[in-house]
Amino acid sequence: MAIKRSTPSSNEPDKTPPTTEETLLKPTVTPEEIGNNEETIRPQTLDEYIGQKDLKEVLKIAIQAAQNRQEPIDHLLLYGPPGLGKTTLSLILATEMGVKCKITAAPALERPRDITGLLIGLQPGDILFIDEIHRLNRLTEELLYPAMEDYRLDITMGKGKSATIRSLSLNKFTLIGATTKVGALTSPLRDRFGLIQRLRFYEIDELTLIVLRTAQILTTPISPGGAEEIARRARGTPRIANRLLKRVRDYTQVKKQPEITAELAAEALNLYQVDQRGLDWTDRLVLSTLIHQFQGGPVGLEAIAAATGEDSKTIEEVYEPYLLQIGYLNRTPRGRMASAAAYEHLGLVPPKLLSTDQLSLFQSEITESE
Ligand code: ADE
Repeated sequence: MAIKRSTPSSNEPDKTPPTTEETLLKPTVTPEEIGNNEETIRPQTLDEYIGQKDLKEVLKIAIQAAQNRQEPIDHLLLYGPPGLGKTTLSLILATEMGVKCKITAAPALERPRDITGLLIGLQPGDILFIDEIHRLNRLTEELLYPAMEDYRLDITMGKGKSATIRSLSLNKFTLIGATTKVGALTSPLRDRFGLIQRLRFYEIDELTLIVLRTAQILTTPISPGGAEEIARRARGTPRIANRLLKRVRDYTQVKKQPEITAELAAEALNLYQVDQRGLDWTDRLVLSTLIHQFQGGPVGLEAIAAATGEDSKTIEEVYEPYLLQIGYLNRTPRGRMASAAAYEHLGLVPPKLLSTDQLSLFQSEITESE
């Protein structure tokens, strides 16, 4: 099978952007982002993509090998916290391979015909991107097994004893599954991915470059210090960095300032209640609830959810990963615990870990009373 290329005589991959057929609104992308330059901000090629160095190397090898063999890339499972670039990387892979990328998410694949329709419509080499793949229902997942392994669709006709199975052959394709919870995938599904790759939180210098790049696309003047201030508060996440940039751009414009500086960025983000470590109101609520209501833990996720009024899945998938990453939260077998750094961040003294001043005061009190 040959992968479609618009320039068959050239060995260079076709870099024209793929047509993205979105079968539903991606739940992790807000309407604001869809309607507001999101597609122009996205890097189109691996060279334009900043960060995830090791993963980029793995993908470059996969692309080159697949192109040499004139085959699609192996099925790929991307996992990691939201906003780190799983969808972007899938679109880039399609561009680099000169194929189309169809984007969907597991909650939209309710009935068997949802997935069969998508699979039948794939052209040779196309990419099918399924977000939140850990949420597939059993029937849909079972339809995917032969499709992934043998490019075959087994459709059950009729019911009960008279049911028969009809097999349909599919074009060879690449399935890219994205998940924030790799542990929630069943092993038969996980085992059918040839490549399983984790996306990591970005470093400040990588996010600074991303902010500078986005600002250039948005024709927003920004100083390197301004970009770094935004990057510091972006929780290691490009999607958040770009969202903060847009808010700071609004602020700078309304204050009639010529460019985003570090001071303006800090002023704006303080106004939006994004603190110096990038924690927002909900992050701080989770930490202070843990500390004040549960004496710093250990406490179960459901108890934190009930006490804060936040959905437990949102806490687990959106808030916790970054709090764990920066060491403000620890997961223990008995539940979540706030770390000493979390107390200090909220201006509190961690239990049993008193400052040197308090310790000497404490010791002098003991000596006096002896
Ligand atoms: N915009 C969002 N993510 C990006 C990335 N990783 N590189 C460049 N621009 C981006």
